[in-house]
Amino acid sequence: MKIIRTKTDLRSLTTLWRDRGESIGVVPTMGALHAGHLSLVKAAAAETDRVIVTLFVNPRQFDNPDDLAKYPRTEESDAEKLAPFDIDVLYVPDPDQIYPDGFATTVSVAGISEVLCGAARPGHFDGVATVVTKLLLQTDADRAYFGEKDFQQVQVVSRLVRDLDLACEIVPRPTVRETDGLALSSRNLRLGEQARQTAPILHRIMAQTVLAIWRGERHALDTATTALREAGFGPIDYFELRHDDDLSLAHRPDRPARLYAAAWLDGVRLIDNLAVPPLA
Ligand code: PAF
Repeated sequence: MKIIRTKTDLRSLTTLWRDRGESIGVVPTMGALHAGHLSLVKAAAAETDRVIVTLFVNPRQFDNPDDLAKYPRTEESDAEKLAPFDIDVLYVPDPDQIYPDGFATTVSVAGISEVLCGAARPGHFDGVATVVTKLLLQTDADRAYFGEKDFQQVQVVSRLVRDLDLACEIVPRPTVRETDGLALSSRNLRLGEQARQTAPILHRIMAQTVLAIWRGERHALDTATTALREAGFGPIDYFELRHDDDLSLAHRPDRPARLYAAAWLDGVRLIDNLAVPPLA
Protein backbone atom coordinates (compact mmCIF):
# COMPACT_ATOMS: atom_id res chain seq x y z
CA MET A 1 0.00 0.00 0.00
CA LYS A 2 1.44 3.31 -1.14
CA ILE A 3 0.76 6.52 0.76
CA ILE A 4 0.13 9.32 -1.75
CA ARG A 5 -0.32 12.99 -0.89
CA THR A 6 -0.75 14.80 -4.22
CA LYS A 7 -3.35 14.52 -6.94
CA THR A 8 -0.60 14.45 -9.62
CA ASP A 9 0.99 11.34 -8.09
CA LEU A 10 -2.41 9.77 -7.73
CA ARG A 11 -3.32 10.54 -11.35
CA SER A 12 -0.11 8.86 -12.63
CA LEU A 13 -1.23 5.62 -10.98
CA THR A 14 -4.92 5.77 -11.91
CA THR A 15 -3.99 6.51 -15.56
CA LEU A 16 -1.82 3.40 -15.60
CA TRP A 17 -4.65 1.29 -14.13
CA ARG A 18 -7.17 2.72 -16.59
CA ASP A 19 -4.84 1.95 -19.54
CA ARG A 20 -4.82 -1.67 -18.38
CA GLY A 21 -8.63 -1.71 -18.14
CA GLU A 22 -8.66 -2.13 -14.33
CA SER A 23 -11.59 -0.95 -12.23
CA ILE A 24 -11.11 1.38 -9.24
CA GLY A 25 -12.96 1.39 -5.91
CA VAL A 26 -12.67 4.20 -3.37
CA VAL A 27 -13.49 4.31 0.33
CA PRO A 28 -13.60 7.97 1.44
CA THR A 29 -12.84 8.43 5.16
CA MET A 30 -11.76 11.02 7.68
CA GLY A 31 -9.56 8.45 9.41
CA ALA A 32 -9.85 7.02 12.95
CA LEU A 33 -10.70 3.82 11.14
CA HIS A 34 -12.88 1.19 12.80
CA ALA A 35 -14.52 -2.09 11.77
CA GLY A 36 -17.24 -0.15 9.92
CA HIS A 37 -14.67 1.41 7.58
CA LEU A 38 -12.88 -1.92 7.24
CA SER A 39 -16.12 -3.60 6.09
CA LEU A 40 -16.25 -1.00 3.28
CA VAL A 41 -12.62 -1.71 2.42
CA LYS A 42 -13.32 -5.47 2.27
CA ALA A 43 -16.29 -4.91 -0.05
CA ALA A 44 -14.21 -2.64 -2.31
CA ALA A 45 -11.36 -5.18 -2.44
CA ALA A 46 -13.81 -7.96 -3.38
CA GLU A 47 -15.55 -5.96 -6.12
CA THR A 48 -12.89 -3.82 -7.81
CA ASP A 49 -9.38 -4.44 -9.19
CA ARG A 50 -7.78 -1.48 -7.42
CA VAL A 51 -8.68 0.09 -4.08
CA ILE A 52 -7.96 3.59 -2.84
CA VAL A 53 -8.77 4.61 0.74
CA THR A 54 -8.83 8.38 1.21
CA LEU A 55 -8.06 10.04 4.54
CA PHE A 56 -8.87 13.74 4.77
CA VAL A 57 -10.38 15.52 7.78
CA ASN A 58 -12.51 17.93 5.79
CA PRO A 59 -12.72 21.31 7.58
CA ARG A 60 -15.66 22.45 5.41
CA GLN A 61 -18.06 19.89 6.84
CA PHE A 62 -17.59 20.95 10.48
CA ASP A 63 -19.94 23.66 11.70
CA ASN A 64 -18.13 23.85 15.03
CA PRO A 65 -14.37 24.67 15.27
CA ASP A 66 -14.11 22.80 18.59
CA ASP A 67 -15.52 19.63 16.99
CA LEU A 68 -12.95 19.95 14.16
CA ALA A 69 -10.09 20.48 16.63
CA LYS A 70 -11.14 17.42 18.67
CA TYR A 71 -11.58 15.12 15.65
CA PRO A 72 -9.10 12.23 16.07
CA ARG A 73 -6.10 12.32 13.70
CA THR A 74 -4.52 8.89 13.63
CA GLU A 75 -2.82 8.41 10.25
CA GLU A 76 -0.16 6.01 11.51
CA SER A 77 -2.54 3.60 13.23
CA ASP A 78 -4.99 3.91 10.31
CA ALA A 79 -2.24 2.79 7.92
CA GLU A 80 -1.50 -0.17 10.24
CA LYS A 81 -5.18 -1.19 10.28
CA LEU A 82 -5.25 -1.18 6.47
CA ALA A 83 -2.05 -3.22 6.08
CA PRO A 84 -3.78 -6.66 6.13
CA PHE A 85 -6.15 -5.70 3.29
CA ASP A 86 -5.61 -5.75 -0.43
CA ILE A 87 -5.32 -1.98 -0.85
CA ASP A 88 -3.27 -0.15 -3.43
CA VAL A 89 -3.24 3.41 -2.13
CA LEU A 90 -3.90 5.37 1.04
CA TYR A 91 -4.54 8.87 -0.36
CA VAL A 92 -3.88 11.50 2.32
CA PRO A 93 -4.14 14.71 0.30
CA ASP A 94 -2.33 17.77 1.56
CA PRO A 95 -5.01 20.42 2.28
CA ASP A 96 -4.05 22.48 -0.82
CA GLN A 97 -4.75 19.45 -3.02
CA ILE A 98 -8.40 19.73 -2.04
CA TYR A 99 -8.76 23.46 -1.34
CA PRO A 100 -6.09 25.38 -3.29
CA ASP A 101 -5.74 29.14 -2.75
CA GLY A 102 -8.75 30.95 -4.15
CA PHE A 103 -10.99 27.86 -4.06
CA ALA A 104 -14.49 29.25 -4.69
CA THR A 105 -16.80 26.38 -5.66
CA THR A 106 -19.40 24.69 -3.50
CA VAL A 107 -21.46 21.65 -4.45
CA SER A 108 -24.84 21.94 -2.78
CA VAL A 109 -27.67 19.40 -3.00
CA ALA A 110 -30.95 21.21 -2.33
CA GLY A 111 -33.79 19.72 -0.29
CA ILE A 112 -32.41 16.51 1.17
CA SER A 113 -29.38 18.41 2.58
CA GLU A 114 -31.59 20.78 4.53
CA VAL A 115 -33.24 18.40 7.02
CA LEU A 116 -31.93 16.18 9.87
CA CYS A 117 -28.12 16.68 10.14
CA GLY A 118 -28.33 19.49 7.56
CA ALA A 119 -30.73 21.46 9.77
CA ALA A 120 -28.76 20.71 12.94
CA ARG A 121 -25.35 21.44 11.34
CA PRO A 122 -25.75 24.26 8.79
CA GLY A 123 -23.37 23.90 5.84
CA HIS A 124 -22.38 20.35 6.78
CA PHE A 125 -23.67 18.68 3.61
CA ASP A 126 -22.29 21.40 1.33
CA GLY A 127 -18.89 20.53 2.82
CA VAL A 128 -19.50 16.80 2.34
CA ALA A 129 -20.85 17.18 -1.21
CA THR A 130 -17.95 19.40 -2.26
CA VAL A 131 -15.20 17.17 -0.87
CA VAL A 132 -16.81 13.94 -2.10
CA THR A 133 -17.14 15.39 -5.62
CA LYS A 134 -13.44 16.27 -5.55
CA LEU A 135 -12.40 12.87 -4.16
CA LEU A 136 -14.45 10.98 -6.77
CA LEU A 137 -12.89 13.04 -9.56
CA GLN A 138 -9.34 12.84 -8.18
CA THR A 139 -9.49 9.07 -7.64
CA ASP A 140 -11.34 8.42 -10.94
CA ALA A 141 -13.30 5.71 -9.09
CA ASP A 142 -15.89 3.42 -10.68
CA ARG A 143 -17.41 2.57 -7.30
CA ALA A 144 -17.44 4.49 -4.01
CA TYR A 145 -18.34 2.80 -0.73
CA PHE A 146 -20.26 4.51 2.09
CA GLY A 147 -21.71 3.22 5.38
CA GLU A 148 -25.45 3.42 6.00
CA LYS A 149 -24.90 4.78 9.50
CA ASP A 150 -24.73 8.10 7.67
CA PHE A 151 -27.78 7.29 5.54
CA GLN A 152 -28.51 10.95 4.77
CA GLN A 153 -24.93 11.32 3.52
CA VAL A 154 -25.50 8.30 1.23
CA GLN A 155 -28.62 10.03 -0.14
CA VAL A 156 -26.75 13.30 -0.70
CA VAL A 157 -23.78 11.74 -2.51
CA SER A 158 -26.06 9.49 -4.59
CA ARG A 159 -28.02 12.55 -5.71
CA LEU A 160 -24.96 14.60 -6.61
CA VAL A 161 -23.50 11.72 -8.64
CA ARG A 162 -26.77 11.42 -10.53
CA ASP A 163 -27.27 15.18 -11.01
CA LEU A 164 -23.67 15.86 -12.12
CA ASP A 165 -23.40 12.73 -14.34
CA LEU A 166 -20.34 11.50 -12.46
CA ALA A 167 -19.29 8.08 -13.76
CA CYS A 168 -19.18 6.47 -10.33
CA GLU A 169 -21.59 4.08 -8.63
CA ILE A 170 -22.35 4.80 -4.97
CA VAL A 171 -22.37 1.54 -3.00
CA PRO A 172 -24.08 1.73 0.42
CA ARG A 173 -23.13 -0.89 3.01
CA PRO A 174 -24.95 -1.82 6.25
CA THR A 175 -24.11 -0.17 9.57
CA VAL A 176 -21.64 -2.18 11.65
CA ARG A 177 -22.50 -2.36 15.37
CA GLU A 178 -20.84 -3.32 18.63
CA THR A 179 -22.35 -6.44 20.21
CA ASP A 180 -24.42 -4.15 22.48
CA GLY A 181 -25.97 -2.43 19.43
CA LEU A 182 -23.98 0.83 19.43
CA ALA A 183 -23.29 1.88 15.82
CA LEU A 184 -19.53 2.10 15.20
CA SER A 185 -18.32 5.67 14.85
CA SER A 186 -14.99 7.45 15.19
CA ARG A 187 -16.72 9.68 17.75
CA ASN A 188 -17.29 6.73 20.12
CA LEU A 189 -13.61 7.08 21.09
CA ARG A 190 -14.56 10.33 22.86
CA LEU A 191 -17.17 8.77 25.15
CA GLY A 192 -16.20 8.48 28.82
CA GLU A 193 -16.55 5.08 30.54
CA GLN A 194 -19.99 5.82 32.00
CA ALA A 195 -21.30 7.32 28.74
CA ARG A 196 -20.01 4.31 26.80
CA GLN A 197 -22.26 2.10 29.02
CA THR A 198 -25.25 4.38 28.32
CA ALA A 199 -24.68 4.87 24.57
CA PRO A 200 -26.29 1.57 23.34
CA ILE A 201 -29.59 2.72 24.87
CA LEU A 202 -30.00 4.90 21.77
CA HIS A 203 -30.18 1.86 19.49
CA ARG A 204 -32.36 -0.07 21.97
CA ILE A 205 -34.90 2.76 22.16
CA MET A 206 -34.88 3.13 18.37
CA ALA A 207 -35.59 -0.60 17.92
CA GLN A 208 -38.47 -0.39 20.44
CA THR A 209 -39.79 2.66 18.59
CA VAL A 210 -39.83 0.83 15.25
CA LEU A 211 -42.07 -1.82 16.85
CA ALA A 212 -44.25 0.87 18.45
CA ILE A 213 -44.67 2.55 15.03
CA TRP A 214 -45.73 -0.79 13.52
CA ARG A 215 -48.21 -1.26 16.37
CA GLY A 216 -49.66 2.12 15.40
CA GLU A 217 -48.80 3.85 18.71
CA ARG A 218 -49.50 7.53 18.07
CA HIS A 219 -46.99 8.95 20.54
CA ALA A 220 -44.13 6.54 19.75
CA LEU A 221 -41.62 9.31 18.92
CA ASP A 222 -42.45 11.44 21.99
CA THR A 223 -42.23 8.40 24.25
CA ALA A 224 -38.80 7.63 22.79
CA THR A 225 -37.38 11.14 23.25
CA THR A 226 -38.61 11.23 26.85
CA ALA A 227 -36.91 7.87 27.49
CA LEU A 228 -33.69 9.14 25.91
CA ARG A 229 -33.65 12.26 28.11
CA GLU A 230 -34.29 10.10 31.20
CA ALA A 231 -31.32 7.92 30.20
CA GLY A 232 -29.05 11.00 30.14
CA PHE A 233 -29.06 12.02 26.47
CA GLY A 234 -29.39 15.69 25.58
CA PRO A 235 -29.80 17.79 23.66
CA ILE A 236 -31.61 15.65 21.11
CA ASP A 237 -31.09 17.20 17.67
CA TYR A 238 -33.76 15.03 16.04
CA PHE A 239 -35.70 11.80 16.41
CA GLU A 240 -37.79 11.48 13.26
CA LEU A 241 -39.38 9.04 10.83
CA ARG A 242 -38.64 9.98 7.20
CA HIS A 243 -39.19 8.41 3.79
CA ASP A 244 -36.11 6.94 2.08
CA ASP A 245 -36.66 8.47 -1.35
CA ASP A 246 -36.94 12.20 -0.56
CA LEU A 247 -36.37 12.36 3.22
CA SER A 248 -39.83 13.88 3.70
CA LEU A 249 -41.46 13.35 7.11
CA ALA A 250 -43.41 10.09 7.32
CA HIS A 251 -46.45 9.88 9.60
CA ARG A 252 -46.90 6.18 8.98
CA PRO A 253 -44.50 4.03 6.94
CA ASP A 254 -46.55 3.61 3.75
CA ARG A 255 -43.37 3.40 1.66
CA PRO A 256 -39.76 2.57 2.68
CA ALA A 257 -38.80 4.82 5.57
CA ARG A 258 -36.23 5.12 8.34
CA LEU A 259 -36.15 6.25 11.89
CA TYR A 260 -33.33 8.80 12.30
CA ALA A 261 -31.79 9.97 15.55
CA ALA A 262 -29.07 12.41 16.58
CA ALA A 263 -28.53 12.88 20.30
CA TRP A 264 -25.72 14.20 22.47
CA LEU A 265 -24.23 12.17 25.28
CA ASP A 266 -21.34 13.35 27.42
CA GLY A 267 -20.67 16.15 24.90
CA VAL A 268 -20.46 13.67 22.01
CA ARG A 269 -23.01 13.73 19.17
CA LEU A 270 -24.23 10.22 18.30
CA ILE A 271 -26.30 9.46 15.21
CA ASP A 272 -28.07 6.31 14.08
CA ASN A 273 -30.88 5.17 11.82
CA LEU A 274 -33.03 2.06 11.44
CA ALA A 275 -35.05 0.91 8.45
CA VAL A 276 -38.82 0.81 8.97
CA PRO A 277 -40.23 -1.39 6.19
CA PRO A 278 -43.63 -0.23 4.93
CA LEU A 279 -46.78 -1.52 6.63
CA ALA A 280 -48.78 -3.80 4.37
O1 PAF B 1 -18.27 9.94 6.28
C1 PAF B 1 -17.18 10.56 6.32
O2 PAF B 1 -16.21 10.13 6.97
C2 PAF B 1 -17.05 11.89 5.59
O3 PAF B 1 -18.25 12.60 5.63
C3 PAF B 1 -16.55 11.74 4.15
C4 PAF B 1 -17.53 10.98 3.29
C5 PAF B 1 -15.20 11.03 4.14
C6 PAF B 1 -16.36 13.12 3.52
O4 PAF B 1 -15.42 13.88 4.23
